[in-house]
Amino acid sequence: MRSMRTAAKIPIAHPIIGDEERQRVLEVLASGILVADRMVREFEEAFAAYIGVPHAVATSSGTTALQVALEALGIGEGDRVVTTPFTFAATSHAILHAGARPVFADVDPGTANLDPEAIEAAVRREGAKALLAVHLYGLPCDMDAIGETVRRHGLLLIEDCAQAHGAAYRGQKAGSFGHASIFSFYPTKNMTTGEGGMVLTSDPAVARRARLLVDPRTEGEYVYSVIGYNFRMTDVAAAMGPPQLRRLDRLNEARRRNARALTAAFSRLPWLAPPVEPEGATHVYTAYTVRVRDREPFMAHLAREGIDHKVFYPMLIPHTPAYRRLGFDGAFPVAEALTREVLSLPVHPALTDDDLHRVIEAVTTFRPR
Ligand SMILES: Cc1ncc(COP(=O)(O)O)c(C=O)c1O
Repeated sequence: MRSMRTAAKIPIAHPIIGDEERQRVLEVLASGILVADRMVREFEEAFAAYIGVPHAVATSSGTTALQVALEALGIGEGDRVVTTPFTFAATSHAILHAGARPVFADVDPGTANLDPEAIEAAVRREGAKALLAVHLYGLPCDMDAIGETVRRHGLLLIEDCAQAHGAAYRGQKAGSFGHASIFSFYPTKNMTTGEGGMVLTSDPAVARRARLLVDPRTEGEYVYSVIGYNFRMTDVAAAMGPPQLRRLDRLNEARRRNARALTAAFSRLPWLAPPVEPEGATHVYTAYTVRVRDREPFMAHLAREGIDHKVFYPMLIPHTPAYRRLGFDGAFPVAEALTREVLSLPVHPALTDDDLHRVIEAVTTFRPR
């Protein structure tokens, strides 16, 4: 067996920044125009065209994009929004920031995405104005079932695509199903602008409100009809967007190839469940997440072998101290089991063949108790 003492640790994420990004950032710095301008508009247009939605508004992060999307759709005081307890906290924080109340529904054990039956039950039990669906780890939700629930109850649909750039359901891109959708360009995502986000919508009125919330100055100097923020993306960040986007499909294909190699190597391990890709879904593997029963010794073994790994997510949002203080709780048996069993392994496109073999060797040589 190879000596791990000399081998560098294989990171869980590795942003790929090319010459074009560097050159365009330098161009912005040389121009002296650093705020949202030409680069932001170019990135918005390119990203909207890629997803297949007419309007895009760039933001400072995925977190601010979520807040803007909800407010631009008119979600606020007294409204209920069904969402998943098994996600990054920004998803449901945004609902609270908008003045609305999250209603958590359990997830599907196979996909870790919202369970359509649990959504239906939550809407019937508590009533809801909107559904905020997260395409977790790069895998789109079951959009057939979600579409039916949304139509049946007249819900607004917001897609959190922070982990789903280029993912698709029956050939249609994640981010083009909802009344609005959001993306994040944080460095661990499938494409990055350092920090950054985007709100997408087909509704011109929602797009206009979103733009005013992100940048109240767009209404005209010192004339305000909306209580806005400053959630703008800068031109320095946006300069990286178009070249990142041009590379996205190729890099997603590399993620999918890496995932196939991992899954093929792990398929006979009785103690590990690899991620699934249900019929109709195109997974883009922002995270390659397996389930293991006895996670602690497995993590210790990976650490010894120099394989970076991460638990997304170890605690359900409604069970965190901040949410408990607000009176949230509830039993979500499937999601709770996932918090104890999930583990994400390196799958990013910067992995070499040698790296991939090291990940495979490390996992397959582990002997569970
Ligand atoms: C599902 C989900 N929603 C929202 C966000 C927030 O994005 P950002 O980190 O850009 O604010 C993230 C990012 O980590 C995420 O994974």
